[in-house]
Amino acid sequence: MEFVKNLTIVILAAGKGKRMMSSIPKVLHNIIDKPMIYYVLREAGKLNADNIFVITGYEHEILESYLADNFPDAVPVYQEKQLGTGHAVSLLKSFVNEKWGSVLVLAGDCPLIKSETLASLVTSRQNGSYAACLITALLDNPFGYGRIIKNQNGEIVKIVEESDAAPDEKLIKEINPSVYCFDAGALFGSISSINSNNFQKEYYLTDIIEKFTEKNLKSSAFLVDDSNEILGINDRIQLSGVQKIMQKRINENLMASGVTIADPDSTFIGADVQIENDTIIEPFSFIKGKTIIKKGCTIGPFAQIFDCEIDTGTIINSAVIKNAVIGKNNNIGPYSYIRPGTITNENVKVGGFCEVKKSIIGSNSKIPHLSYIGDAEMGSNINIGASSVTCNYDGYRKNKTVIGDNVFIGSDTMLVPPVKIGKGAIVAAGSVITEDVPENSMAVARSKQVNIPEGAVKYRKKKKSSK
Ligand code: UD1
Ligand code: CA
Repeated sequence: MEFVKNLTIVILAAGKGKRMMSSIPKVLHNIIDKPMIYYVLREAGKLNADNIFVITGYEHEILESYLADNFPDAVPVYQEKQLGTGHAVSLLKSFVNEKWGSVLVLAGDCPLIKSETLASLVTSRQNGSYAACLITALLDNPFGYGRIIKNQNGEIVKIVEESDAAPDEKLIKEINPSVYCFDAGALFGSISSINSNNFQKEYYLTDIIEKFTEKNLKSSAFLVDDSNEILGINDRIQLSGVQKIMQKRINENLMASGVTIADPDSTFIGADVQIENDTIIEPFSFIKGKTIIKKGCTIGPFAQIFDCEIDTGTIINSAVIKNAVIGKNNNIGPYSYIRPGTITNENVKVGGFCEVKKSIIGSNSKIPHLSYIGDAEMGSNINIGASSVTCNYDGYRKNKTVIGDNVFIGSDTMLVPPVKIGKGAIVAAGSVITEDVPENSMAVARSKQVNIPEGAVKYRKKKKSSK
């Protein structure tokens, strides 16, 4: 990335986004697993700007707390009343100093913009000594956008908003996507002269171009090839359209780096997810948050993975896994639920209808069928019989189960903690274990079986005669 000197970035994000019909700021609506403003800030962040300001307004506390947690270097500037984009930018007058060179203005609801495009915009303004350089795009249907009015030299002389445009201006297909780079001196020298004498009674930032023209300052257009980059979001239909494009970008980047994605249309992978090559993602998989998946895994179909680390060669089929660390060559699913705090070692199996919570599972241990393991510490080479449960909750607090290496737990065993099963022990099926089992012992904790000779015959006779 080209390093641009003396750059300040302003992201407009104060608007309510009426058409979202929402109680949260528009820019906090998610695209896959991140708010739309995340993508704008991520791309802005790559430019090494001196300052990044975010204009906040509607429900500003929510946006400000998101920024503080995720982008602490971005400075929120509160715009109490959304009097227009020109008014929003004028709020920066109190921050500006002689070191400011270029001011890049972005819209928080335009998340597909790429840093490379922004860097080219900034350099082309600097190289051409323009007062403003703005991205433009040619749209078949320009409705709703500000239209670009140029002179014979191809310089922009003004921008007209849809609601103020004359019929012949409405035919113009070159539009303003609201991505501008200004010379700081020119911008703040003219911003106060913008008025609100227009259809919407707003202070339009777009009017500054005409102010420049009046002062003989030049503005130039920077046409983007890929008009997807400038798509703005005003409603939830556009939100889903932009999400599709973002999803395609993320999936294609992964495929380019050697990940197989069987059906990109039904595969949802978050912006921060890392996946190594020769991993295969089967359809209907959701992989989100800070997940890292190493080489040679097979994920899905129907996997939901959030904030996990998954080591090489692991198979995850139809499982939900949250905040867990999964070891090498594990086999998880189908229909397993692995909850936060779980750590598995190599060659672990968690099978059908098993839930594991906040437990450590040693290598080569198996929990194959219908079990619940919670708050447990399991060694290696353990087999947990079908339908066995660690009864971790006594109604008041969570208690711990510790199971040593090479233990065999028979089916339908209840382990009532705090309890320890020593290495090499065997617990008989159907046991309720409330006391520690010493190493290599066999624990049987169930009532003794009684076989009554001919008992079944007698029983049937009795039932028939009482009919
Ligand atoms: C704006 C442009 C229009 C362009 C379109 C691209 C103006 C006057 N018009 O119109 O030429 O084609 O974007 O999408 O700028 N905002 C604030 N404070 C305000 C008003 C808006 O921060 O007082 C923010 C909004 O949150 C949004 C952005 O600025 O992120 C654009 O505002 P919006 O009202 O959507 O402008 P448009 O009418 O779409
Ligand atoms: Ca808009």
